[in-house]
Amino acid sequence: MNIFDFQKKKISGEKISMVTCYDYTSARILAETSIDCLLVGDTAAMTMHGYKDTLPATIEMMKYHIAAVSRGAGKKFIIGDMPFASYRKSFSDNITAAQVLMQAGAHAIKLEGAAGNQDFIRHMTETGIPVMGHIGLTPQFMHMLGGFKVQGKTQSSAERLKEDVLMLQEAGCFALVIEGVPAALGTELTKLLSIPTIGIGAGPHTDGQVLVLQDLLGLTLDLKPKFVKAFVDGYDQFKNGIEAYVQAVNSGGFPSDEHCY
Ligand code: KIV
Repeated sequence: MNIFDFQKKKISGEKISMVTCYDYTSARILAETSIDCLLVGDTAAMTMHGYKDTLPATIEMMKYHIAAVSRGAGKKFIIGDMPFASYRKSFSDNITAAQVLMQAGAHAIKLEGAAGNQDFIRHMTETGIPVMGHIGLTPQFMHMLGGFKVQGKTQSSAERLKEDVLMLQEAGCFALVIEGVPAALGTELTKLLSIPTIGIGAGPHTDGQVLVLQDLLGLTLDLKPKFVKAFVDGYDQFKNGIEAYVQAVNSGGFPSDEHCY
C-alpha cells in the first residue's frame, strides 16, 4: 500500500482496512494478514500506558511505538499519530516533530482537527510527508468538545464538518479519518470528497474502517463505545491461557520431558 493505492481504492470502491498497532509482536502478526495499513495511534497512551485519554502521549512515546511497529510490520503502510499540541507550535518545531516520527519508521503522519492546520499540512506535503487528517469526535479536543460526544448532530455542526473536510482535502491530505459522527453524515462527507475516508463510528459507507486492535481482539475491559465490535474473545482466551499455565505449574505438569534439556 502507498498513498496512490488509497486513492485507487476510493475510485474502485474497494474498502480500506486499518487497525492500530503499537508493538513489535502484534506488528509481526498483522504483517501476515491482509490488513491494508497500520495506525500507530496516540491511543497508545491508553492501551499501552494505561492513561485515561490520549492527551499524555508525547513525541518520544510515539517514536518508541512507531519504531517497534516498523521492525515487525514488513511491507505494511504505517501511519504515525502526531500527539496532542505537537503540531501547534512553531513551524520548525512542528516539522522537527514530524521528522522524528517519519525517521522512526512512519510512512505518513496523522493529525487531528482542521482550522489552523492547513499551512502546516501544506508544508509537510511539500517536505515529503504524506498527511492523513482526522475530524469529528477528535479525542485530543475532548475538553473543547465537552467530552467524548458524537459530532455533527446539528445542522450547523454538520455544515462545519463539511467545510472542514473540504479544507483538509484542499490542504493536501491523502485520506481522512472520520470519527464519531452520525452514519448519514459519514456517507455525505465521503461523497463530498475525492480522497478516501476511513471511518470509526461513522457508519458503513465511509471508504474504509479503523478499529483499535485491543477493541477488535476483545481485550478492552472498560470503555466500550457503541461503534466497537470485538471479533474474537481475546480477554477470556488470554486469561484462560494464563490459568492453564498456573495450573500446570502447580500440578507439576509443566515443564514435561519435551520442555527439558
Ligand atoms: O489514536 C488512534 O488510535 C486513532 C484511531 C482511533 C482512529 O486516532
